[in-house]
Amino acid sequence: MENFIYHNPTKLIFGKDQLQVLSEELPKYGKNILLVYGGGSIKKNGLYDQVLTLLKELNVNIHELAGVEPNPRLSTVRKGIEICRNENIDFMLAVGGGSVIDCTKAIAAGAEYEGDVWDIINKKVTATKALPFGTVLTLAATGSEMNPDSVITNWETNEKYVWGSSVTHPVFSILDPVNTMSVPRDQTIYGMVDMMSHVFEQYFHNVKNTPLQDRMCYSVLQTVIETAPKLLEDLQSYEHRETILYSGTIALNGTLQMGYFGDWASHTIEHAVSAVYDIPHAGGLAILFPNWMRHVVDQDVTRMKRVMTSMFDIETAGKSDKEIALEGIDKLSAFWSSLGAPSRLADYDIGEERLDEIAGIAAREMEYGGFGNFKKLNKGDILAILKASL
Ligand code: NZQ
Ligand code: ZN
Repeated sequence: MENFIYHNPTKLIFGKDQLQVLSEELPKYGKNILLVYGGGSIKKNGLYDQVLTLLKELNVNIHELAGVEPNPRLSTVRKGIEICRNENIDFMLAVGGGSVIDCTKAIAAGAEYEGDVWDIINKKVTATKALPFGTVLTLAATGSEMNPDSVITNWETNEKYVWGSSVTHPVFSILDPVNTMSVPRDQTIYGMVDMMSHVFEQYFHNVKNTPLQDRMCYSVLQTVIETAPKLLEDLQSYEHRETILYSGTIALNGTLQMGYFGDWASHTIEHAVSAVYDIPHAGGLAILFPNWMRHVVDQDVTRMKRVMTSMFDIETAGKSDKEIALEGIDKLSAFWSSLGAPSRLADYDIGEERLDEIAGIAAREMEYGGFGNFKKLNKGDILAILKASL
């Protein structure tokens, strides 16, 4: 393992009816509250009314930023920063999925930064101060509820970057599986693909002696694989929503990545795809990840084989490690397809036209962010992965 320091200050508040804990937590942070949410799902499922009732009982001043887009945009972040400055906001409450939370993180850091928030998002500057914020999570997927990361898209330049800093952890996150019951089938599938992808990103590294971390990765993957078909059979199952919600948090709250930093190339490539074509993040991952795996399989065939055999029944007798690994990758792709995830860029009507541009965006970010730690990729590699995904 490499040396590490782990510090995660987010208070995780998990379970049925935990929304009421808001009444204890919120008064600690101030009176002027900015409520941030997305395109209306929380109004349809009643969560907005519940949150508003609690906020009114606390006698706080409520301002709202509605309409945060999936793949949240820099323009919306800027709108939020303006509200924070004009209204002297001292606390933000994000109610929604990863996009709402990521947007809130960028507003929190941007409101405390004198320059342009884009400097922080494109990692020119590291945020050293941020407004405090809490979250009420409504979609199991990104882990944003318990990590400092945020992903923001600049549509003017077709750039989508991950950034984060030690000041952008939520101070608390409330996770009630009931609030995820209304997540539609497609987003439920994407969420499960995303959390599995987060485990893969971390599992693929070249650091020696990580037996416990490896087994923790296998456990999360096995749990999601076992639960996913059951949840899709019954989207109203509290039990399965609960398992998946907790899996999503553990998959990306830093627990699995102690002692090394994972690969993260597939995420970088996906972010470049969705910076050009506005597709769902994990739809892109379901297409790209198996092709990344095929491209890098020779880097460490044993490691690839191990994770595949931990997830799937594969007849191994008489086969080489590479054959087993490749069969496992096919099974992973088939598993995601069986859930209903896309498997080709053509499923989103994406052809060859802009692949070179996408590869260029991803290659720039890889160089800049140090991604591709299992196997360093250049623009040619990225293009090959994209072409294999057509
Ligand atoms: O906008 P609303 O109306 O709320 O609808 C959303 C949105 O349309 C809907 N939804 C959310 N909760 C719901 C619901 N619909 C019904 N009932 C509910 N309870 O689902 C749609 C997708 O929401 P979004 O927040 O975009 O999904 P997700 O949580 O998957 O977040 C995706 C974003 O997170 C980034 C992605 O790149 C993408 O921009 N990521 C963030 C990460 C992080 N911060 O650590 C890591 C990830 O790898 C990822 O890159
Ligand atoms: Zn992801």
